[in-house]
Amino acid sequence: MFSDNKNQNDILNSELFKSYEIEYSFSNKPIKRLKIKPEVENKTDLLNFLQDKISKIENCDLKLNASKLVFSDGDFNSPLMIVGEGPGQKEDEMGKPFVGDAGLLLNKMLKAININRKNIYITNVVNYRPPNNRKPESSEITKYSFFLREHISIIDPKILVLMGSTAMESLFGSKIKISKERGAWKEVIVNNKTYITMITFHPAYLLRQPDQKKYSWLDLKKIRKKIDELDLNIK
Ligand code: URA
Repeated sequence: MFSDNKNQNDILNSELFKSYEIEYSFSNKPIKRLKIKPEVENKTDLLNFLQDKISKIENCDLKLNASKLVFSDGDFNSPLMIVGEGPGQKEDEMGKPFVGDAGLLLNKMLKAININRKNIYITNVVNYRPPNNRKPESSEITKYSFFLREHISIIDPKILVLMGSTAMESLFGSKIKISKERGAWKEVIVNNKTYITMITFHPAYLLRQPDQKKYSWLDLKKIRKKIDELDLNIK
């Protein structure tokens, strides 16, 4: 006779398997389902991927004439993203945006509203130095705006600051004038997301036209106010 239920079941099962000539048995243990790890898409990977994509751009005079790809600088988790125009000579040498004279002025502008540049994220519309520091052509701006849009989506800032007409053109087109558009909060949609955006003068322009600094100062104060209103804690 069977000594207990467990044995009884086991024996019954094995008899059954034998009769069916089955050579495997079932278990009551929970099935270990295959766990597919969701692909971890962190900012570092996405930014590296974007940089790599830009480095493979084809038919680009800017790339042919430049010595380095200038991608970005600062904190990629910052809620404030600044977009300039493109690298100059110093940036091309160092592979970092805004390290020449315009960069020094940018640092001072940020300091005036209590921001240390290392706490924000900085990039440019074009990532290769235009020959002789010429302004990027509209076709180049359009070509690179695809990358810039992706860059903005990855950084996903709370505030976007476009410095100069090239950055403005990249996201708003060429039909508007910076003198009219600067200093007002706007919304720009990038990959289905709306970003609060300010267009303001480029520091290189301010070096050439110092009398325009008074307008730049108004814009900077608005940027500081917005940072505080949104409680963004940028220092
Ligand atoms: N001007 C820009 O727009 N970007 C730089 O990186 C340097 C100067």
